[in-house]
Amino acid sequence: TDLDSFIAGLPKAELHLHIEGSLEPELMFELAQRNGVEIPYESVEDVRAAYAFTRLQDFLDIYYAGANVLRTRQDFHDMAMAYFERAAQDGVVHAEIMFDPQTHTDRGIPFAEVIEGLLSAMAEAEAKHGMTSQLILSFLRHLSEEAAFETLAMAEPWLDRITAVGLDSSELGHPPVKFAQVLAAAREKGLKITLHAGEEGPPEYVYQALDLIEADRIDHGNRALEDPVLTQRLAEMGMTLTVCPLSNLKLCVIDDIAQHPIDRMLQAGLKATLNSDDPAYFGGYIADNYRAVADARGLTRDDLVTIARNSFTGSFLPADAIARHM
Ligand code: HPA
Ligand code: ZN
Repeated sequence: TDLDSFIAGLPKAELHLHIEGSLEPELMFELAQRNGVEIPYESVEDVRAAYAFTRLQDFLDIYYAGANVLRTRQDFHDMAMAYFERAAQDGVVHAEIMFDPQTHTDRGIPFAEVIEGLLSAMAEAEAKHGMTSQLILSFLRHLSEEAAFETLAMAEPWLDRITAVGLDSSELGHPPVKFAQVLAAAREKGLKITLHAGEEGPPEYVYQALDLIEADRIDHGNRALEDPVLTQRLAEMGMTLTVCPLSNLKLCVIDDIAQHPIDRMLQAGLKATLNSDDPAYFGGYIADNYRAVADARGLTRDDLVTIARNSFTGSFLPADAIARHM
């Protein structure tokens, strides 16, 4: 339709994408076969049927199990390349992709295999589609801060190829302050900081992200809306929120897409962006996320343009590159 082509034709950056969450069931089967790995599913339909979640942890259990088929740098390359191809169709011209090294190094996969596979796909996406991309190394917050420090040490040879660090995985019970020291150490090394806060966790975790971590960006941030003082503060400081509507729906952060708060966020002056989070698990890529809230909340084309512009000004690109996209 008209709106679909408008959305796909709108140049945009994707700022919240877990590359392991882009592993489609078809590729999962192919990699399982290539690597001789057993998976607990009979068919692609069987896999998709398992993707019924009631909260974040249900999803995470299945997502970490799916990542078990990833073994070699070729696997990481193929997964990332499939994402870039799909994102290019959706008008993504710049992607800041998160990866979870601990999900792999804890299974004995060398850090080098993971990152070299991703970096070669990033180079290919730029050569083929002119799409730029950056890496965000996410620490798993259900693990210890000590384990995060070990991961940061493994990343040392590639620090010039990594733009930021983040926090993902189980939010409740694992507040940002748990990782204050390792995030400060990463910042000392010149990395930016973005972290999941206020997806399932309370507004208090968003306050911690601001006051204790001084985060450059907030992933999700939905629950900040429960606190008008916090909302106003985020708006006044121009903090970018990487919002993920289909993820919010699938993980029951909202009960119905018709309740998505994206328009309330924009009205409150929040710098919101739209992103796909884990598209293979949540039923859509970035254009599907734009479309879903455009339909459900009646966003205008001007709203969608605002959101796409927010994705560039909220990116970690240098100012001259941002200017070229505006
Ligand atoms: N939230 C927390 N951790 C994650 C997510 C998410 O949406 N996706 C992958 N890891
Ligand atoms: Zn996420």
